[in-house]
Amino acid sequence: MATTLVTNIKLLVNTLEENKLLRGKDLARLPCIENAYLIIEDGIITGTGSSNEIQHPASKFSHIIDAEGQMVLPAWCDSHTHLVFAASREEEFVDKIKGLSYADIAAKGGGILNSARKLNAASENELFTKAWKRLEEVSKQGTGAIEIKSGYGLTVEGEFKMLRVIKKLKEKSALPIKATFLGAHTYPLEYKDNHQGYIDLIMNEMLPVIAKEKLADYIDVFCETGFFSPVETEMICRAGMSYGLKPRIHANQLSLSGGTQTGVKLNALSVDHLETMDDDAITTLAQSNTIGTLLPTAAFFLRMPFQPARKLIEAGCAIALASDFNPGSSPSGNMNLVMAMSCIQMKMLPEEAINAATINGAYAMELEKEVGSISIGKKANLIFTKPVPSLAYLPYAFGSNLIDRVMINGEWI
Ligand code: NIG
Ligand code: FE
Repeated sequence: MATTLVTNIKLLVNTLEENKLLRGKDLARLPCIENAYLIIEDGIITGTGSSNEIQHPASKFSHIIDAEGQMVLPAWCDSHTHLVFAASREEEFVDKIKGLSYADIAAKGGGILNSARKLNAASENELFTKAWKRLEEVSKQGTGAIEIKSGYGLTVEGEFKMLRVIKKLKEKSALPIKATFLGAHTYPLEYKDNHQGYIDLIMNEMLPVIAKEKLADYIDVFCETGFFSPVETEMICRAGMSYGLKPRIHANQLSLSGGTQTGVKLNALSVDHLETMDDDAITTLAQSNTIGTLLPTAAFFLRMPFQPARKLIEAGCAIALASDFNPGSSPSGNMNLVMAMSCIQMKMLPEEAINAATINGAYAMELEKEVGSISIGKKANLIFTKPVPSLAYLPYAFGSNLIDRVMINGEWI
């Protein structure tokens, strides 16, 4: 058995003793141990504590790592990404700078349909290779567990192809990965005036195969004006639920779409985005078990108002933070930037942001027993920082790469 002792840790962050989804005031409670040690056996955390109380002789360990005063955090849990895509969309980005509207870009064949066209033309191997590179990139940036959606296929074959790529990523990667079926991302052109036709395709052609081949863990719908209405969202989610797929929903991004209320009604695991919230949506979410996942880099990239994190926390909501990594609204999966933006622009405390990006993100993927904190029995998926004066320095020095190295299952990556 490989046993590792990590000594000389300046601060061991989020040493949660009992798993709990954090909401409201509890989000600011971040348990830490100063001047700490950590024991890892076969990739699992088996001991933590204060260095002056260490009771194990050094000879007991096959490896000793001197952290030399680094801080150690749980790796980020990114619970919302669209990591599988065929091509970037920087031409739309430039068009928007020049003043084109969303509608102009859609008329030019842009947006989600642009990504779908390119994805359907790409081979499964090509998609896998590209997605693998992105996964490697984000894990070096500290992501230690991730959710990945389909939704750029929008055809039976395209959606299956995406989900098979995600399945292969799950098999090959050391990171815990959850797969979400997002066939209801937008209506394909040929179903523009035949919504029920596309919903039938999802329910009758896609879902039975996805369930049989276990290609997804969750079902997602883009509930938004001009995309899927609350009624359509509910119909699609209920169909997914009948196959055992829990819903998680794109809600309240561009408008007060009713997505949050629909998600809560369906007992969704999470409602994600939440740029556009009113009191009713906030109260409904606060009184539910559903997690509100905030995606600040999407708000930033689309030049939208940031999510009302303070209002949500004060109302008692359970908040997670995620990257929304995708080519259209967040071409970055860097969770360090997500953290910084949530502190700078949404006024989350560093402790709140760290909790939202670790333990609550783990809950938003139902991975809280495996990851999300530095607790006995969880995976040693860890971030070792460069020398930093304090925890708040991490979101404060937003432009610096402050990660020295990342460990997944007790191994350096
Ligand atoms: O989460 N809002 C819906 N879907 C993605 C963006 C999709 C795209 O533009 O490619 C999102 O932001
Ligand atoms: Fe998204």
